[in-house]
Amino acid sequence: MVERSAQPPEEIGQFFSSQWTVYERMVRFNLLRHKEMFACLREDLQSLKPGFSLLDLASGDAGSLAMALQGLRVSRCVAVDLAGGPVLLAARDNLRFRGIPAEVKALDFLRFVQSGCKQPFDAVTIAYSLHHLDHGDKQHFFQGVAQWIKPGGSLWVIDGLVPPGETPELWVAKVISHLHLQGETVYNAAEWQTVENHIGTCDHPEEATALHEMATAAGFQSMTTRLLLEGGLLGMLRFQK
Ligand SMILES: C[S@@+](CC[C@H](N)C(=O)[O-])C[C@H]1O[C@@H](n2cnc3c(N)ncnc32)[C@H](O)[C@@H]1O
Repeated sequence: MVERSAQPPEEIGQFFSSQWTVYERMVRFNLLRHKEMFACLREDLQSLKPGFSLLDLASGDAGSLAMALQGLRVSRCVAVDLAGGPVLLAARDNLRFRGIPAEVKALDFLRFVQSGCKQPFDAVTIAYSLHHLDHGDKQHFFQGVAQWIKPGGSLWVIDGLVPPGETPELWVAKVISHLHLQGETVYNAAEWQTVENHIGTCDHPEEATALHEMATAAGFQSMTTRLLLEGGLLGMLRFQK
């Protein structure tokens, strides 16, 4: 099968900054199961030593992450997103209003993790965004992000996952059908067109086993499937270093 090529990161950042209100409704109506995923992430973060550091890649407005961190002691928190502008300012405010000492950076997360790391983190998270990279860049991502995690620390990936033996094309069709079933009235016809175009052209999900192989090659010790929802179309994986 020929792999669909990924969109340039700047175009994806531009898409999210111009269409943020469309994406924000998808989160608010829980169409992608942010509530369950971030509740599970919170459970894991609660078990870390208080005062942990966290890097959130492709943070968007970090709204769900900020809720997951509510009341937890975080020593340092960096959020990276290419959308920049109001989206990233919202991320800073959402985190700081919950007492999280947040810094924000308007950068491409792949380039960011490939740059030299001076101060690694206890926890790195990337939610609903790794799928924007093609297969080769996902491998580069794992190689790069490994240096940003302390030994014994973890990477959490929340994302679309291709169920074993199925294809990314079938994943796209099933996710679009799931979104319509759960939230037909959330969008008008033009907005549905925007959503479907984005998913059909920008989403390149993988099987969990493919991500596990990339992580192993990058030096991670293990992968745990923390949550699978919607028949395995959406999931949270934890990679321990
Ligand atoms: C679907 S949203 C997810 C936002 C948030 N993580 C969440 O869970 O709701 C995808 C985000 O990834 C960002 N993004 C996509 N590709 C990126 C890249 N290469 N570098 C930085 N940010 C990127 C977009 O700007 C957008 O804010």
